[in-house]
This record gives sequence, structure tokens and C-alpha cells, in this order.
Amino acid sequence: MGPIPPHFSAEDGMLLIGGCGAASLVDEAGDTPLFVYDMAIVEAQVRALREAMPDALSIHYAMKANPYPPLLARMAGLVDGFDVASGGELALALEAGMDAAHISFAGPGKRDDELTAAIRNGATLNLESEGEARRALAIGDRLGIRPKLAVRVNPDFDLKGSGMRMGGGAKPFGIDADRAAALARTVMGAGADWRGWHIFAGSQALDRQAIIDMQAATLILAARLSEEAGAVPPLVNLGGGFGLPYFPGDQRLDIRPVGAALDNALEARADILRDSAFAIELGRWLVGEAGVYLTRVVDVKQSMGETFVVVDGGLHHQLAASGNFGTVVRRNYPIAVANRFGAEPNPEAVTVVGCLCTPIDRLGDKVALPPVQEGDLIAVFLAGAYGASASPAAFLGHPCAGQLLIG
Ligand SMILES: Cc1ncc(COP(=O)(O)O)c(C=O)c1O
Repeated sequence: MGPIPPHFSAEDGMLLIGGCGAASLVDEAGDTPLFVYDMAIVEAQVRALREAMPDALSIHYAMKANPYPPLLARMAGLVDGFDVASGGELALALEAGMDAAHISFAGPGKRDDELTAAIRNGATLNLESEGEARRALAIGDRLGIRPKLAVRVNPDFDLKGSGMRMGGGAKPFGIDADRAAALARTVMGAGADWRGWHIFAGSQALDRQAIIDMQAATLILAARLSEEAGAVPPLVNLGGGFGLPYFPGDQRLDIRPVGAALDNALEARADILRDSAFAIELGRWLVGEAGVYLTRVVDVKQSMGETFVVVDGGLHHQLAASGNFGTVVRRNYPIAVANRFGAEPNPEAVTVVGCLCTPIDRLGDKVALPPVQEGDLIAVFLAGAYGASASPAAFLGHPCAGQLLIG
């Protein structure tokens, strides 16, 4: 299985999350399955990021990673902006107290009512196509509001080694780089408030050099497009892509050299970007390690010499850990028996399965765990991003997982 994040310890064999025993957290929340998010870990990540990155760089939270309202409300005071991906996320971002001036909305297929909500509230739309630009301009005219429009660019490079590539080929995201400047000129010509470029090349990269190269290429592309558009972009959103070590053999990304390289690249940027502001937008890196999914063992059974530990949760809450969210090969997320944390594992591996009647509902495939029995608590780590909100909660009619923010 992958490495357990370094933020966790135990007392008398009980996993501690933010200094509280996992079992007491379940008691406090009332039941399993339960996501616990430790805000102290999120704050530490934001601090580390600010320390490592150039002072002038704004940090935006891609709330698709975790839109739990109490977490969002805390995030609004910690970061410089939110990236939203739907009208629903926009509403949550505003409710969380984020100023619309610092909200940008990226995502293909924005409906007219979503464009209207963004324009009415003063959020920036990262335009995904010429058609979307046309609709946004028409809505701005109708409302009598000058829309804030940035152009999302489908870059002509990708983020090497990233889990999800979002550039460097035919993509439904953004406008191909060779048409981006023309679109920027069109929106400026129509009187819109042009906000600059949004260039997101990929997600979940652990290779520091790949991120350094991607950021350098992004700055060069932004400068070239700005020259072509004949305007200084108010903001260049450099995307994100910082990954987390989920799986065996994954190494933690050291962000300090990434920040140092970005500092140099910004110093050396082209003249046309001298007066621009810069941002990165991260989701999982900020919140992923802060979350633990706790689920209770309902049954321990044997089949043809294999032991199956059956829990009351599963892929309907934590799809990513089952290997069915953006991974090609299924591998084990870090997993432990929360009430026997740190105990010697049994020599025989067990398979932890969820309560759904489908063979893909596996939270741990042949994992080395201490002896497990009914009533034990299983902890699946790295559950703070793309967990509760990225899983098919309605499938088979089981209850939703609880969520608890601590710290
Ligand atoms: C436009 C955009 N921004 C931000 C993110 C967040 O990525 P991550 O959670 O890996 O940081 C994504 C993820 O797909 C994205 O598409």
C-alpha cells in the first residue's frame, strides 16, 4: 500500500487525527462511515506553500477537491482565491465568504444560467471556447454588466508524468493555443473586462522537474500569446499539478525547488508580463492529506483461502481509493486498522472490500494489516480530496458518509 502521510500518530494503539482518537471522533459524529478533515494539516500545507513560492504568487484553491462548506469557510480566509467548476460551486464559494473578485470559473459546458450567475456576481469566467465567449458577451450585454473574461488556453505542451493530462493535444478544455490570442482580442474588442490567461496543463505530478518545466513553458506561452493579443494580461493563472504520494514507491514532491525555479522564471519573464499578477490553483495538494475516511468492519469472511474484511463504507464514498477515479491500474491507498494503529501486521494479507455488491468495491487489495475483527475501524488515508464529493453516493441506496472538520 502507499505511504501513510506523516501527520498521524497513535495513543494506546488508537489512531490520532488532530490529537483526537479515531473512535472518539466517530462517537462525536454519531456513526461510521465518516470523513474526518484536520484543518491544522491544511493550514500547514498553505503555510509551507507560501514559504516555498514567490511572494507575489497568489494561491487559489480548486474547490472541486473538497467543497465541504465548513472547510470552504476556513479556506476562504487562508487562500487568495477559489477556482470553481460549476454554478453550484460558485454558490458555495460565495456562501463561504470568498469575494467574487477572487473567484474564477473554469469548466467546459457552462450553461447560460451559470454564465449569468458568474457575470452578475462579478466572478471571472475562464472561457473554454469561442461559443462560450459569444454567449458570455451576449449575457453581459443583456444584463448591462461588463463581464470579466479570461481565456483558458489548451497549451501546446502537457505536464509530464501527471495523473491527468489536460493539455498537449485535442482536449475539451480551453481554446487551442493558436486561436487563444484572437479570442482575447475579440473579447477586448467587445468591451469585456479581459482578465488574462488560464493555462492548466495537468494534475497529480510528483516529478518536480516536470512541474518546473511546465511552469517555465507556461510563462513563455503566456508572453507569446500576450504579444499576439497586443495586451498585458492582468493575471496569468499558471495552473497547478502538485501531486501527492498515494501509492507504493511514490516520493513526496519537494515544493521548495519548484518555488525557487518559479522565482527565477518570474524574474526573467518577458517584458509584456512585467505588470501582470500570477496565480497557481491547487486542489488535492492542499487538502488531500488532511482527510481520513473511517469505516467499520461488519464482517470478516474466508473464501478459498483468502480473507475478506467487509466494511460499512466503500466506493460510493471513496471511489478514488477503489481505483476507479482517474487511475489506469488499481493500487492500494494507505490503509490501517485505526484501533490497532502501529501493531504488527499479520503474515497473511487480507482484502478490504466495501459493502457494495460489485467486485470493483475494494478499498485494499491483499494488504498487510494486524488481526482484524468485526467492529474494528478501518482508516483509509488521503481522503481529503476527491472523496465524498467525487463518489457515486446514491449508488445502491446506502447512506452518505458523515463529514467532520476538526482543528
Ligand atoms: C482547471 C483545474 N484546476 C484545478 C484542478 C485541481 O487539480 P488538483 O486537485 O490535482 O490540484 C483541476 C483538476 O482536474 C482542474 O481541472
